[in-house]
Amino acid sequence: MNAKSFFQNNLFRISVHLFSLLPLAILLWNGLQGNLGGDPVQAIIAQTGRVAMIILLLSLAATPVYIITGFKGARKARKALGLYAFLYVSLHVFAYAGLDYGWDLYLIGLDILDRRAAQAGLAAFLIFVPLAVTSTKGWQRRLKKNWVRLHKFVYAAGVLVMLHYIWVQKADIREPLAWTFLLALLLAVRIPAIRRWFTDHRSRRQAAKRARTMPVETIGA
Ligand code: HEM
Repeated sequence: MNAKSFFQNNLFRISVHLFSLLPLAILLWNGLQGNLGGDPVQAIIAQTGRVAMIILLLSLAATPVYIITGFKGARKARKALGLYAFLYVSLHVFAYAGLDYGWDLYLIGLDILDRRAAQAGLAAFLIFVPLAVTSTKGWQRRLKKNWVRLHKFVYAAGVLVMLHYIWVQKADIREPLAWTFLLALLLAVRIPAIRRWFTDHRSRRQAAKRARTMPVETIGA
């Protein structure tokens, strides 16, 4: 396979990796340039948290995109997006615990006990860890049906992340609510009746398209 066809065949996958690494490159560049504002630590925590949430939603959008459009590439990107979301969540938590609290576990414990926002964030993080660890083919083979059951916890993690995002906001919660609404839509598409409606609709659309492109002489042959 030459470079051109490799690129064409993997365009979507390559763009997923580039898109997912871009925020980290920008954050590093801004950090090196001293462009993180008056409170760089808070900026790093906020930006890594936001990117983690957006990439998590993109990984949860993979299945609905496949259900509605039939685009298999979306489903193939789900694992990479899930792992990138975990990368940014880890940077987010390390920035909070390391840069903000200097790894003082007593103070971190007090803060988490004191704030429901941090409790929701920690609960989500504790779900992400086993999902990231078991994202390999080996664990999928080992856990079999339990792997699917375990990875359904990503839905609960998504809800916890939105609660975390809403509760960390001091004043205006309109943006977290908008993201929460998007999460609700992505989860709703997975409801069997709604999923069936979309897949039926998609196969009807494909059948009509096939009928339109079929040469006249073969219709009714
Ligand atoms: C131990 C777990 C976690 C802790 C201690 C934590 C801590 C924090 C803190 C302190 C903030 C406020 C930053 C500020 O003042 O602006 C924050 C914001 C945020 N966190 Fe977390 N977080 C945790 C887990 C998560 C996870 C798992 C996600 C998502 C996948 C996440 C997404 C966010 C988002 C979206 C924001 C808002 C950023 C903004 O205002 O733009 N956090 N987090």
